[in-house]
Amino acid sequence: MSVSEFPGSGNARGVALSPPCDDLALWRWPLDRDGHEWPALWSMLSAPERERAGRFGTEALRQRYVAGRAALRETLARRLGIAPAAVPIVRGTRGRPMLADDASPDFNVSHTRGVAVIALLDRAGHRVGIDIEGEDRSLAHDSLARKFLTADERDAIAPLDDDARRRAFLRLWTCKEAMSKATGDGLSAPFARIGIDTARGLVPVAGPDVYAPGLWSLHAVAAGAGYCATVAVWRWA
Ligand SMILES: CC(C)(COP(=O)(O)OP(=O)(O)OC[C@H]1O[C@@H](n2cnc3c(N)ncnc32)[C@H](O)[C@@H]1OP(=O)(O)O)[C@@H](O)C(=O)NCCC(=O)NCCS
Repeated sequence: MSVSEFPGSGNARGVALSPPCDDLALWRWPLDRDGHEWPALWSMLSAPERERAGRFGTEALRQRYVAGRAALRETLARRLGIAPAAVPIVRGTRGRPMLADDASPDFNVSHTRGVAVIALLDRAGHRVGIDIEGEDRSLAHDSLARKFLTADERDAIAPLDDDARRRAFLRLWTCKEAMSKATGDGLSAPFARIGIDTARGLVPVAGPDVYAPGLWSLHAVAAGAGYCATVAVWRWA
């Protein structure tokens, strides 16, 4: 459910989503922006971001990247009370974007189909990860389940019909990818050893090292009709 609008540049508006826990703010931004907005969006980006934008193979991918980074900068700028171009975003572990000097808030971003969701977390010793997928995304869910789910997770979804199994896989995937984005591990996270009990909510029940269940809380994000999104909060210190 949207609770307020963000007065971003141009026509696009960031929409605040209901935060599922304390200290967390969630925003959804459109990535398909009007042509006249490009100079303003481009002017917010850092030199490395502009270079990266230049390396995308298609104009559509480039524009979405620029719109996503501008949305992130506008969101952080408002929180920090500085100009979007002045937000000091650096690359942390495996390229995880963070504020310089580990400053607050911690943040993370996920994109799908013309939409970005942004999570900001203001809690000392904690980091946040977020993942969004189109709810109707078609995928080889049974073979992905063999690769990325625990035996208990596979057993739990086995009785479901094909489409319900696909949806259940997507939810579990967004949980695990959000966790991998909080740590910065990304696709090198030990997905098949991270266990989530979806029958009791989104309860972490297994995971090695930094993925130990007691360090995590997971929350479904109401990102709008047609989306499956999860935010993960990690206690790392
Ligand atoms: C992070 C990752 C899982 C993203 O997956 P995705 O589903 O394609 O994309 P999403 O839209 O959900 O997330 C992308 C955003 O996550 C953020 N991100 C990038 N790397 C990240 C990382 N390691 N941890 C957390 N967030 C990361 C960025 O904001 C990125 O958006 P941007 O490209 O506009 O900057 C994937 O890119 C990845 O694994 N990256 C790490 C690569 C890696 O492990 N390299 C090892 C060599 S050291």
